[in-house]
Amino acid sequence: MNVSNNDGSVVALVPAAGRGVRLGESTPKAFVTVGGTPMVRLAVDGLIASGAVDRIIVMVPTELVESAVALLPPSESVRVVIGGAERTDSVRCGIAAAPHAAHFLVHDAARALTPPELIARVVAELRAGAEAVVPALPVVDTIKSVDARGEVTGTPDRAGLRAIQTPQGFAADLLRAAYADERLQATDDAGLVELLGTRVRTIPGDPMAFKITTRLDLLLANAVLDGARMAGRS
Ligand code: CTP
Ligand code: MG
Repeated sequence: MNVSNNDGSVVALVPAAGRGVRLGESTPKAFVTVGGTPMVRLAVDGLIASGAVDRIIVMVPTELVESAVALLPPSESVRVVIGGAERTDSVRCGIAAAPHAAHFLVHDAARALTPPELIARVVAELRAGAEAVVPALPVVDTIKSVDARGEVTGTPDRAGLRAIQTPQGFAADLLRAAYADERLQATDDAGLVELLGTRVRTIPGDPMAFKITTRLDLLLANAVLDGARMAGRS
């Protein structure tokens, strides 16, 4: 695998084609507003503000392609494509739309408040030669494994656990290889890359890169933006 990724374009893939079942709004989640702006727009604005991304490909539900084009910044470097049934399908659609990328970021629209500075740090690691890099935060809860009956089967040492965020960064050929084998299954993009035996580097994540999944998360995200606006006025 090529490890001298010192030039070449950085393409951000933004999965925004989910239904948002756990949020429970009538609109697919990425199109739900936070502080008056749809999450997918906030996520794309964050990627642009990082100054570290050359192109952005946003994967959305079929019926929302036109709405997405209308609400995203009118720029040649932002493109909308149709996503798929599962998140992995959506990422695969994005990869196919960027055959010349040298590096990929995969960044959930649902992590709408991710600081641009975190995005820039992931790209800096890629440019310094990392093949796979993910933001990670210490886990605050104790995590237990359970069996099908809900009985505890173990308690891994929390000190060795991390909660993983996006953007996740990859050498483009590595992510292509991970997605080429449709039998591989994982709950995040780095998980697929790990199955290929590649080392994944962690960098410190940021609490503001939290994923908006539930009503409580949406309340929190709105409160954060309200708070930021109030601070801006004083
Ligand atoms: N996503 C996607 N295509 C899918 C499923 C998910 O592009 N088929 C995107 C979502 O839009 C989101 C990100 O992947 O930005 C993370 O997924 P998640 O938080 O699970 O969002 P949803 O799948 O929309 O939510 P839920 O699982 O509650 O339905
Ligand atoms: Mg989902």
